[in-house]
Amino acid sequence: MIIAVDGPTASGKGTIAKALGKHFRLPHLDTGLLYRAVGYQVKLNGGNPNDEGDALKAAEIFPDELLGHPALRSEETGGLASRVSVHPQVREALFERQRAFAKQEGGAVLDGRDIGTVIAPDADIKLFVTASVEARAKRRWQEMCDRGESHSLLEIEDDLRRRDERDRNRAAAPLVAAEDAVMLDTSEMDRDAAVAKAIEIVNTLTGQL
Ligand code: DC
Repeated sequence: MIIAVDGPTASGKGTIAKALGKHFRLPHLDTGLLYRAVGYQVKLNGGNPNDEGDALKAAEIFPDELLGHPALRSEETGGLASRVSVHPQVREALFERQRAFAKQEGGAVLDGRDIGTVIAPDADIKLFVTASVEARAKRRWQEMCDRGESHSLLEIEDDLRRRDERDRNRAAAPLVAAEDAVMLDTSEMDRDAAVAKAIEIVNTLTGQL
């Protein structure tokens, strides 16, 4: 069983995908981490994330150990990832790795932006997780407060809007729900409620397979 979970930044898709993996005993891949690793590697190389050549080089050389680096989780790296992810050659360079993960025996859960549309259009279950920009900004803000960082809520909201716009309007694999995706709006849900709903959706859909 392949489960594809797509959606914008801070929609809750990562938390949901991880929980689905645990519940259904499937390996989980956060594909955003791959783009974050490329963005961070561009920075380490002293390159420009808007330059396709610089970004492609980073995609080809970043070491696997980088995927566990705490710096990948930062807002700055998220911004770099959003920039490198517009380049078709970068997406192509990361395609095989994601595809192989999706096709492994026994199945997998992948979360990202284009899993249900490009990486695994043949997925058995496709979820598109959304939430209002206000709800997402508030979650991000809370996460940052918990880490002891202080940022203004408005700044975070602005940054999310900019990132959404870039992810939705890029030519290569833009953030868009697959036609056969089930929409899950988590604006009014806490973590547990969102996870419970996602499990319920998967159970209902697999009952119909
Ligand atoms: O989910 P995230 O915030 O870790 O993703 C970081 C960036 O990577 C995001 O702005 C868009 C890009 N991305 C992508 O283009 N395709 C994916 N499958 C996953 C992430």
